[in-house]
Amino acid sequence: MPSTEKRYYVTTPIYYVNGSPHIGTATTTLLADALKRYQFLRGTHPYFLTGTDENARKVLEAAQKEGKDPLAFVDEVSQRFVETWKFLDCDYDHFFRTTDPRHVSVVQEVFRRLSTSGDIYKGTYEGWYSVKDETFFRDTDVDAQTKVVIAEGVNKGATVERVQEEAYFFKLSAYGDRLKAHILANPDFLLPPTRRNEVLAFIEEGLRDITITQNRTGWGIPVPGAEDTAVVYVWFDALINYLTETGWPDAGYEMLWPCDAHLMAKEIYTRFHATFWPAVLMALDLPLPGHIVGHGWWTVGGEKGAKSKGNIPSPQDMVALLQEASGASERICVDALRYYLVRDIRFSDDSEFSVEMLVSRFNTDLANDLGNVLNRTLRARYHTGQVPTPRALDDGLKAVAQSAVAGYESALEKFDWGLALQSAWTLISAVNVYLAEKTPWIAAKQGDDAAVADAVYNALEGTRLAALLVSPVMPNAAKEMARQLGVSESFGVEGAWETEKRFGVLQPGTLTGEATPLFPRIDTKKIVAPRPPILGEPERKPNIMSDTQNTESAAPANPTTQQTDRTIEMPVEPAYITIDDFAKVQLKVAEVLSVTRVPNADKLLHLRISMGAGDERDLLSAIAEWYTPEELTGKKIVVIANLAPRKMRGIVSQGMLLAVDGPDGRPVLVTPETGVPAGAAVR
Ligand code: MSP
Repeated sequence: MPSTEKRYYVTTPIYYVNGSPHIGTATTTLLADALKRYQFLRGTHPYFLTGTDENARKVLEAAQKEGKDPLAFVDEVSQRFVETWKFLDCDYDHFFRTTDPRHVSVVQEVFRRLSTSGDIYKGTYEGWYSVKDETFFRDTDVDAQTKVVIAEGVNKGATVERVQEEAYFFKLSAYGDRLKAHILANPDFLLPPTRRNEVLAFIEEGLRDITITQNRTGWGIPVPGAEDTAVVYVWFDALINYLTETGWPDAGYEMLWPCDAHLMAKEIYTRFHATFWPAVLMALDLPLPGHIVGHGWWTVGGEKGAKSKGNIPSPQDMVALLQEASGASERICVDALRYYLVRDIRFSDDSEFSVEMLVSRFNTDLANDLGNVLNRTLRARYHTGQVPTPRALDDGLKAVAQSAVAGYESALEKFDWGLALQSAWTLISAVNVYLAEKTPWIAAKQGDDAAVADAVYNALEGTRLAALLVSPVMPNAAKEMARQLGVSESFGVEGAWETEKRFGVLQPGTLTGEATPLFPRIDTKKIVAPRPPILGEPERKPNIMSDTQNTESAAPANPTTQQTDRTIEMPVEPAYITIDDFAKVQLKVAEVLSVTRVPNADKLLHLRISMGAGDERDLLSAIAEWYTPEELTGKKIVVIANLAPRKMRGIVSQGMLLAVDGPDGRPVLVTPETGVPAGAAVR
């Protein structure tokens, strides 16, 4: 590619170095890595930036708490991020650190330019500040008595302190209209759509000018002209990292700028990346990023997984667990973790992290589905060690392959890896079904060589394409698949997408490699998995592997045993269920009689339902974000009638309603199509 062509530029947030990397921060980095790898295949010469945010007050406080010199501390912790991303095979182009002197001078240059243009002015700030969130709050957002944020949203519950000081302000209020116009004119600028609506509502409320300096010295970027008294607000400093990296203001920054995709989770989306940052760019007369993409959080037991809470495991521990349980290599287990994190993080909603789900993805999607497609052809007796010449491509399989690729591409236009991988899996399942239908093993016994050649060729070609589709997320497994298929040389090269995404590319006569199982199935009945260690906490939280449904029994019955006994039984996780298993689940139609919100539980609704024949029950459901009480009242829904009752928030919930994972993770209720009475059985 000629060196003058703009590169596809993708970023992660720069992470605070007050704690170690964990599966949350790993997820955004992996989403960016997968995107870079996909763009590499597409030939857009991608550039992937990640790094650490080191000038924050909370970083200084973390260093002081450990009695360490702050510079030595940030060196040490940022190195942990470098190592973890390397361990996870994240192929970033540069690791950014905000203590880098060049960054300091770029931030000061931005400050000077915006002061000259009148976008920065001096005033007095009086209000609340949260060090944990490094965010300012209005009086109305805070309970002055308890000094806690009470406003609904991602910062609720943060502790704040009162601040009154002279400060410099950025004229954010001047950019609301232009920003709104840009958002409306560019439907995919803010993704997913739920976040876009949030931002539009936030702008509608009226953007307020934002304080961008703090009166303290010794840690942080000195304010030009007030070097001895003030430092730049850490968010003003941090966001500029994306620009510093491009070489701005020196010539040539257009090779990277505008950024194509800023990725992050929801808590730093609306206030910082989707309003403050674009406004600063507008003030600098720079083009806005192509896409700002926010995903939900990994929760553990319903709560945000965070290093400060110590409730979220490290990627290394999860890989070690998989290795021990499966016997697969470290690189393959890294891929499995990458797959789970990228596949199951949702964009409009949070996702509950669990080892059960990780193991289930390993066994079901990887060992059963993906591993099988390769094994069932390459290791079979009828396979000769060469790609055979078919009489024709299979039209059915080809159609599935084409639609899988189309679905994958369109999901990735919106950065939705969950959907893209689901699309890839339609092909993987189709190859497995194809083999079951074509039964080449029977054709081989009957001596029907042409039928064997057709089946083997088409199955191998489907597998090759599947390897291509999974390669951005599972680079090691894909490479191994390519080796076994004998296509290592042509596989995954830069710009190969358009050619390789077609069905029918595999050359007859290609010598295939030695076939070895990729993902050995984990026998969950036998293994006793180590409890995932929790970051920095000697005392282990029970909720990672335990039944997260049962919120009130989450505390260990015997805390002493909990600390010393580092192992627990993995639950049995069957691959298939029998009709008898299914018969155990009583599904019934229920009528919603009344609905109320549950105090202090934003997500929960309390439904009173009728199951017919005088059977009335209470049911709690976490759908308050999606359905109002009014919408639900009077509806017929489907519930699991014989689920063990559980007590939550003092209410005994008897049953569970069924909902479909709708677009953007929005739950869509399952309701009977025509009028049926409450109590009717669902089979
Ligand atoms: N330093 C700021 C970002 C500045 S960007 C110019 C910051 N750092 S952070 O260390 O708190 O990282 C926040 C980001 O880490 C989230 O936006 C998300 O990308 C990732 N995650 C942290 N915890 C997470 C979960 N529990 N779940 C999913 N992602 C998580 O904010």
